[in-house]
Amino acid sequence: MAQWTNEARYQKYEDVDQSTLDALTEKVNQSEYRQTFHIQPTTGLLNDPNGLIYFNGTYYISHQWFPLGPVHGLKYWYTYTSKDLVHFDAVGPTLKPDTKDDSHGVYSGSAFEYHGHLYYMYTANHRDEDWNRISTQHIAKVSKDGEITKFPKPVIGAPPFGYTQHFRDPKVYVKDDVYYAFIAAQNIDKQGRILQYRSTDIVNWEFQGEVKTNLDDFGFMWECPDYFNLNGYDVLLFCPQGIEAEEERFKNIYQSGYIMGQYDINQMTMNHADFHELDYGFDFYAPQTFLDEHGQRILIGWMGLPEVDYPSDVDGWAHCLTIPRVLTIEEGNLRQRPIKALEQLRTNKETALGYANKFTKQLHPYEGKQYELIIDILDNEATELYFEVRTSKTETTLITYNTKEQKVTFDRSENSQLPTPVEGTTRTTYLDTPLTQLQMFIDTSSIEIFCNNGERVMTSRIFTDASATGIKTSTESGQVYLRFTKYDLKGDAE
Ligand code: FRU
Repeated sequence: MAQWTNEARYQKYEDVDQSTLDALTEKVNQSEYRQTFHIQPTTGLLNDPNGLIYFNGTYYISHQWFPLGPVHGLKYWYTYTSKDLVHFDAVGPTLKPDTKDDSHGVYSGSAFEYHGHLYYMYTANHRDEDWNRISTQHIAKVSKDGEITKFPKPVIGAPPFGYTQHFRDPKVYVKDDVYYAFIAAQNIDKQGRILQYRSTDIVNWEFQGEVKTNLDDFGFMWECPDYFNLNGYDVLLFCPQGIEAEEERFKNIYQSGYIMGQYDINQMTMNHADFHELDYGFDFYAPQTFLDEHGQRILIGWMGLPEVDYPSDVDGWAHCLTIPRVLTIEEGNLRQRPIKALEQLRTNKETALGYANKFTKQLHPYEGKQYELIIDILDNEATELYFEVRTSKTETTLITYNTKEQKVTFDRSENSQLPTPVEGTTRTTYLDTPLTQLQMFIDTSSIEIFCNNGERVMTSRIFTDASATGIKTSTESGQVYLRFTKYDLKGDAE
């Protein structure tokens, strides 16, 4: 986009006149792609979820935000609070780029509690006159009435020797009153790494070393690390950049996934199994986790990717966050399920039970743009199953299940608009067990597909015409016996 010079990208919205901002807001509000139950930017671009925490009875959810347009520019944190992770109250911009260190963006970070108070640890991004990146790690205190006080100096003023200025996204982990920060880094051989720091007073942070994994050569940068213990396992999440696609794996521009095993926090050694992708859709990146009021591990991701243009850009906004998911590890496998509280959005239940075959195109009369659809596969003798949503005479969004290969394929190539550039027209996953259930959350311009009660998730933006509201089912050959349960979802996102 020609008008996005560096000057335009690094302009503060506080310096832009109100009528320009109002015109942008109006344009965004008229966009046919606005979501109804996902967090989305009021204007401009949203990326990573930041500072997620349940603190003193309230959830705090922030996100990376460039207010002035659908591009990556001067980043702020925009914050919401919530009582249930389903309805959100906008607090507005909280961490702002107003110091020399963060003159080119308040980048991603996390939230933690220290001595009964809420704090954020985040990266300040500065560019010098030669446009060299300078990354420092900072802390800010959030007072009871929401006022933010940045600590006067960085708590980590530079990357350690042997690492480049790609040094960001601190995730704080607390154990036995010791505070650890896991920070995304790149070594001077241009390999992604995670660095571990330690503090007992949150002001002085000691560099302990890099997390030792067996992924020595696995991309040029690992963004947005997260570390937690779950059901007896240690899990390290991160977003490696620069991984080559392998057949049907790693097809998105950057990956987001995890390694699981046992982590020795003193030795910094992670014994782990293979790296797995967290999500098998087109649009998922930079997730962050936190504990909810029940002690469940919740994950929220950015439903988008860097370096991709989206059809909503012309309306002055881009991206949204995913719905919150509960993580568990069951029989050694990570599962992700939508949080139960989302059931509050359900209205107007419709059900159907019946056979579908090659000729059944319209098993049920439903249609819609914002709904939850649960398809239970009760008896499957078909070779391939086809489920279509957001379909009309001219476009469709297709989910195919190949019974023999236990393979789920998502295809949005017949949507009227597509993000660009994007590798290939489909995303696939091979299930561990035969498909018994699909649970889909469809909002105006997105779909989140949970296969087999959280065994796999596929998250994608979809950009169909407003008139494409149909739902269809059929098979390649043979028949399938299905139960459909559909709820309209009534969200209040703005
Ligand atoms: C990931 C990321 C982070 C960085 C932020 C900047 O999407 O590149 O590494 O902190 O976005 O907006």
